[in-house]
Amino acid sequence: MVDNYYINTTNSIRRQILGLDALVRLEDKRMVPAINFDNAATTPAFKQVACEVMQKLKCYGSIGRGKGQKSEYSSEIYSRGREIVKSFVGANSDSYTVIYVNNTTDGMNKLASALIENPNDLVLTTRMEHHANDLPWRERAKTLYVEVDELGRLIIDDFERLLNDHDGKIKYVTVTAASNVTGYVNDVHYIAKIAHKYRAKIIVDGAQIVAHRPFSMLGRTPEESIDYFVFSAHKMYAPFGGGAVVGLTDELNRHIPKFYGGGMVDAVCDYIVNYGEAPDLYEAGSPNYPGVVGMLKAIEMLNSIGFDYVRSHEQQLLKYSLDELKQIPEVILYGDNQNFDDKVGLLVFNLRGITPENVANMLSAYSGIAVRHAAFCAHPYVRRLTEGLVTQGDVLCTPPQGMVRVSFGIYNNKAEVDSFLSTIKRIIRLGSTDARSDVGSAKSLSAIRLPNDRG
Ligand code: ALA
Repeated sequence: MVDNYYINTTNSIRRQILGLDALVRLEDKRMVPAINFDNAATTPAFKQVACEVMQKLKCYGSIGRGKGQKSEYSSEIYSRGREIVKSFVGANSDSYTVIYVNNTTDGMNKLASALIENPNDLVLTTRMEHHANDLPWRERAKTLYVEVDELGRLIIDDFERLLNDHDGKIKYVTVTAASNVTGYVNDVHYIAKIAHKYRAKIIVDGAQIVAHRPFSMLGRTPEESIDYFVFSAHKMYAPFGGGAVVGLTDELNRHIPKFYGGGMVDAVCDYIVNYGEAPDLYEAGSPNYPGVVGMLKAIEMLNSIGFDYVRSHEQQLLKYSLDELKQIPEVILYGDNQNFDDKVGLLVFNLRGITPENVANMLSAYSGIAVRHAAFCAHPYVRRLTEGLVTQGDVLCTPPQGMVRVSFGIYNNKAEVDSFLSTIKRIIRLGSTDARSDVGSAKSLSAIRLPNDRG
């Protein structure tokens, strides 16, 4: 399935990932390299990212707050990084500002805290969203939801219908660029065009796209441009707590986030505060410099690997896994697994008669494979996929049982998928007889051996 070019490239990328040689203990006491198929939750670090952070920390000083030479050096790296981020997300226009945040959830909350000034403001979001792009709006504004169809894709006509029904009163449309549950990539530029037609601004959750596809905030026409884009660095091989909100400077300057502290003001008097401008206005407190340094290096690494490779590699792993899983009658796959060009490299499934938690435990116990199970912080979406469109109302609100998710990164390979597939077959053979909830839990760090650990 994978040609030599990809095998060589993947091998070379694997050598650049930190920790692939760390061993984990299986239930039969063997120590094996862990296999990570939970890249949609978080990715391991590029070695170069960790090295860069260590290097830059040698010259670390207070950001934007001192005249010491280390301080000036760090401040320069920090502030020049904003242009690197802008270029990474195709925001090559003076109208955008980059605000550094800790992750997508942090960015969405900060943005919502600033943009929503009246609880009656209308925000149009979707039933596909991660909670990070639902709850920050739900808790501050009136939210309306675009539905998904039976395969879990957005019902795209709902955007125009709801925007039209509300007569130009919806202020923001907020939608994910790619789903963390099904992997669908949404046509956010088309959605932007519809939103702008009704004078709404568009906010895009970029958490699941940045490590998988190239992204440009600028569309083919000004109407297609994205107004706000939010993403995390820990899903792009830089787990040091970086992330960014890239947004419209003028509008950001018309609002104040509900996160207060030093660095965001021009002057504070006894009873009056003069707030500064974006980005400082949105970055109260001492910034996370290692997070920014790591993110900038990860951007450089991803650009040099190239998204053509990333996309093609993940699609090949996805196709191979799906083709095999479809042959196994006990496997229930969710979403559209016939046409998956519009998906990033992830799949969700269940095994008949075995809970998602037990499947995840057994993958870990038998083969050291990490997956995520349950409802992936997207309960309304997962409920729709597993139980159909249920109108549960507010009377009974319990989490859906969910499913198991396999999510690929640029370094995963076919041998790892083969190990996953054979373990799935083993789990099916054992059936629920070995479906103990504790079967795979590593009870302590002693179950993990680092490469230089002789223990
Ligand atoms: N949002 C992350 C996930 O989908 C944590 O797993």
